[in-house]
Amino acid sequence: MRVRVDGELCTGHARCVILAEHVFELDDEGYCSSRGDEIRIPEGHEESARTAVENCPERAMSITED
Ligand code: F3S
Repeated sequence: MRVRVDGELCTGHARCVILAEHVFELDDEGYCSSRGDEIRIPEGHEESARTAVENCPERAMSITED
């Protein structure tokens, strides 16, 4: 499972960091550090990552299943 974070849509709500603290973190500017990237979700963290994706207010995150 991979998650893409749209670089234009992420405005730094940080819900992803709160809901999936072992997957996402904020960068120095207060945005998701995966902004503009697609990251592979570590095994065992799929559920929290999915919750984070569903709760991003900007709908900045999207899932690709492997
Ligand atoms: Fe950005 Fe959404 Fe997270 S706006 S910081 S991807 S909750």
